[in-house]
Amino acid sequence: MSNTEINLKSLIGDNTREEFLKLLKSKTPFISHGNSEALKDLMSLPFLDSVESLAACWRDTVDVFHPKIADEISKTSIPPEDALHEYKNGSCILFNDVNRIIPEFDLWNQQIRRDIGFSELTYVRNLVYATPAGKGNAPHFDQNFNFVLQLEGTKKWWLAENNTINNPMTRHVIGHPVDDELGRYSAKEFPQSFPADCTEYILEPGSILFVPRGVWHMTEAVTDAVSFNFTFTPPTWIDIAMTALREKLSHSEQWRETVIIDDKGTHNSEFNKLLNGLSADVKNWNAVDFLDITEHQEL
Ligand SMILES: [Fe+2]
Repeated sequence: MSNTEINLKSLIGDNTREEFLKLLKSKTPFISHGNSEALKDLMSLPFLDSVESLAACWRDTVDVFHPKIADEISKTSIPPEDALHEYKNGSCILFNDVNRIIPEFDLWNQQIRRDIGFSELTYVRNLVYATPAGKGNAPHFDQNFNFVLQLEGTKKWWLAENNTINNPMTRHVIGHPVDDELGRYSAKEFPQSFPADCTEYILEPGSILFVPRGVWHMTEAVTDAVSFNFTFTPPTWIDIAMTALREKLSHSEQWRETVIIDDKGTHNSEFNKLLNGLSADVKNWNAVDFLDITEHQEL
């Protein structure tokens, strides 16, 4: 392998970082084509040469999507040789956490994460989807950001703005039950069909599609198609606050006390004492106190 670095610049086409961040913040998708040269260190890896090559070196199970549901919401995890058989019989298959194969993937992923400015608490992984011609993913949105690199074949994507919920913290598939928490903070009903006002994107080998968090999408492979995802699940402010708060409170023996709910309500006075102490303390906290706990921990 040569030492060509894969970083944010390799994934954003002609956009500058600042232009890309505007697109990310406004949840605007974009596509760029002809990235094979910039990503040759990845695209020329022998195990990404074909589904057969990846299956041959895979030491874990592979996810096979139920043909009617066509989403990870309904999948079975089976050995790679069986998954290859299912793929050849028309099922979509998914190799999860491909970044476990070689250390370069994690180096590239972390470089891209730092270039964007995502927190160190970001969950980053790579996925490989193999989709037989005529098959695809059911309409849904995700809580994460994806760069989709087409490795093989042609695949159509349809993307549409999400007018139901901004900044979702879980994914949702149209026609399936809404996650309980997502349902509680969504004021509107979720649509029963894919929004008509959508944009079609056609991915060929070397194309990269940026799919922002929350954007509706569905796919269909024109030919047998293989794609490689850089998937980033960054924390929200809620996650940063909760993580830092736990770290701060863990230094207190009283906050670490086991909770006992008793009939006399003694627990209320105990807990109120702690909350009063906390609210007095919070006045002296600022962003740096929290971010010092979650960031800059890397060596
Ligand atoms: Fe998705």
